[in-house]
Amino acid sequence: MTPTERRSRATEAFFGRRKGKPLRELQVERMTHLLPELRVDPEGPAPENLADLFQTQVERLRLEIGFGGGEHLVHRAGENPQTGFIGVEPFVNSMAKLLAEVEAKELRNIRVYDDDATQLLDWLPAASLDQIDLLYPDPWPKKKHWKRRFVSQVNLDRFHRVLKPGGLFCFASDIDTYVNWTLIHCRDHGGFAWTARNRADWITPFAGWPGTRYEAKAKREGRSSAYLTFRKI
Ligand SMILES: C[S@@+](CC[C@H](N)C(=O)[O-])C[C@H]1O[C@@H](n2cnc3c(N)ncnc32)[C@H](O)[C@@H]1O
Repeated sequence: MTPTERRSRATEAFFGRRKGKPLRELQVERMTHLLPELRVDPEGPAPENLADLFQTQVERLRLEIGFGGGEHLVHRAGENPQTGFIGVEPFVNSMAKLLAEVEAKELRNIRVYDDDATQLLDWLPAASLDQIDLLYPDPWPKKKHWKRRFVSQVNLDRFHRVLKPGGLFCFASDIDTYVNWTLIHCRDHGGFAWTARNRADWITPFAGWPGTRYEAKAKREGRSSAYLTFRKI
């Protein structure tokens, strides 16, 4: 790990936008009443068994960091009712959108966190997650901003601690330099094995992939994506 990759403001902070347009009345209502019900509170103690966070019985546990429009999270939660999902997103309007979907689809297997994912990662019990999804993370394309990228040795240490043995870290991006960055960081970390055997494995979306808003934007702008799966070793 280089000195710049140790814990620092650049690896601990959230750099994106927190708010967009003012919320509509019903959205405000959900943010006031439903968010506190579903929000995980890292100020309190973590349950010994993370599955106890959910009102319904769950057998697997999955974390999605930066769920944006929430399309992927909602789709996965709907098709896997026995998996408990924790979705993290600090952008208020995205959280409001997700809450509307959770309510409309009566999803019982989603909990959320509305701030920087590193805080939640530090709260989670060791070896508690089956999978972490980091889909189209903010790319920070300028070299002087690369240190803001979510994939860093510090955050890979966090992933490694909270994943169960053999747990998966799934990463998607349309930004070549970020894909290469992630491959190099995971190789240098040493705690993750890239599962790809051939090119088809990383150019083909993950099984059951519903797409995301950012992926659709990348496609419209003529960029293809890479889908990387790493297994904790
Ligand atoms: C480029 S968007 C991608 C959204 C979505 N995954 C998609 O594919 O459409 C990246 C998202 O990550 C969120 N984000 C950025 N830094 C974060 C952090 N430290 N913790 C949690 N979410 C973060 C942003 O608010 C933003 O919504």
